Amino acid sequence: MKRLYIATFGCQMNEYDSIRIEELLSDNYKKVFEPKDADLIILNTCAIREKAEHKVYSLLGRFKHLKKKNPSLILAVGGCVAQQRGEEFFERFPYLDIVFGPHAIFKLPELIKTLEINRKHLCINNLEPHFVIPRARGQLWGIDSVRAYVTVMQGCDNFCTYCIVPYVRGREASRPPGDIIDEVRLLVASGIKEITLLGQNVNSYGKKEQGFPSFAQLLKEVSKIKGLKRLRFTTSHPKDLSPDLIECFSQIDNLCPHIHLPVQAGSNKVLRAMNRHYTREKYLELVSDLRSVCPDISLTTDLIVGFPGETQEDFEQTLSLLEEVKFDQIFAFKYSPRPGTKAAKMSNQVPELEKKKRLAKVLELQDKIGLQRLSRFVGKNIKVLVDGVSKSNPKQLCGRSPGNHVVNFVGTKDLIGKEIDIYIEHACQHSLKGRILDKKGTGGEFIQEVVNG
Ligand code: 5AD
Ligand code: SF4
Repeated sequence: MKRLYIATFGCQMNEYDSIRIEELLSDNYKKVFEPKDADLIILNTCAIREKAEHKVYSLLGRFKHLKKKNPSLILAVGGCVAQQRGEEFFERFPYLDIVFGPHAIFKLPELIKTLEINRKHLCINNLEPHFVIPRARGQLWGIDSVRAYVTVMQGCDNFCTYCIVPYVRGREASRPPGDIIDEVRLLVASGIKEITLLGQNVNSYGKKEQGFPSFAQLLKEVSKIKGLKRLRFTTSHPKDLSPDLIECFSQIDNLCPHIHLPVQAGSNKVLRAMNRHYTREKYLELVSDLRSVCPDISLTTDLIVGFPGETQEDFEQTLSLLEEVKFDQIFAFKYSPRPGTKAAKMSNQVPELEKKKRLAKVLELQDKIGLQRLSRFVGKNIKVLVDGVSKSNPKQLCGRSPGNHVVNFVGTKDLIGKEIDIYIEHACQHSLKGRILDKKGTGGEFIQEVVNG
């Protein structure tokens, strides 16, 4: 067996793609965790912000010496930066072997074979959307042994003015519902308990394809698969969040009470300049609708600070929106100009230092709100799906609440994959601490204090 090192940057789509790449190559390659041990290095890249793109260039620079030491090493770049820059990569990194866009993943085994025969660099970044079907036989692969992603659609037609995704991932295309159902069935049969359906904008699922169900209908079908304990989806665009989908939160038992609903900004002027097609008021209405259908729903969001033309007053509207909504978690970013997008050409760019200050302000406020939100669980029992050993403390297990909060507690490894009741004792900044409930489900006494291993 040859050895594969794969590094993944960016969103869950890339994580899903990397797992497909590993599967596709698994007849000939086994995974290693150090680039120096590899015969094949793949960087699955992200173009969403400049920083992510730079990381790729700096890593490639560092791999030059590995290539010198081992000329038969194959160096490949995939993902969104590969799609965007294509052949340009070879000018800057002549020792690079393969550049492949996200739609060319299925070609990878063939590309590697061609390269092994004739060592001439190869670039494919001009293909139409193509869904890689996970291996139909044997065990399918997830994020871990408990949770898996399943892509339902690719691409994006929204063209938010800051965003490069529509340029690198192409137009929206949905996967046939039968393929999605089959994939979920296979994953569940191989022991997966929780599925997250993925798409850049899942609310647009099936809108372009004839005879496809709506996303809400698809969700209902998937939820019926026997053995599926938990179902999630991401990402929703507020402009397309339908009443049908909101209703799903009260109709589908195994649909987790969590929605990631990127708001991006609190000012209507900025939302308009971003081409988001909703107002602050509309967003707040959606939040209120969601909370009336599912009172304890956990809400998370994405935010951009320092979008071109964002004044101090505009920014303060983002802060007041955070106060108003009280998100469980936010992912906040400084605006990063991306080549080819409309916003990058806008004249009223916000200085870097100002963006930095605004980001710090947003994060400081959210730290307070996030902790308040987590504190509501202290003294209560919650159902936790155990997904593995805690990263920060190998003596503890970790899992997720239905609302997707991280929960750490002491327990034995045989609990991985099980849904158990945890009594929450403490809220940390980004996670909860608790202990396993006794059989009566009352006192939160320890029934298990055995430390792993
Ligand atoms: N600069 C900063 N953040 C961005 N995002 C997308 N494009 C940019 C950009 N140019 C953020 C948005 C999106 C998340 C995935 O990344 O908030 O929801
Ligand atoms: Fe980018 Fe907007 Fe599409 Fe999301 S909806 S991927 S932010 S263009």
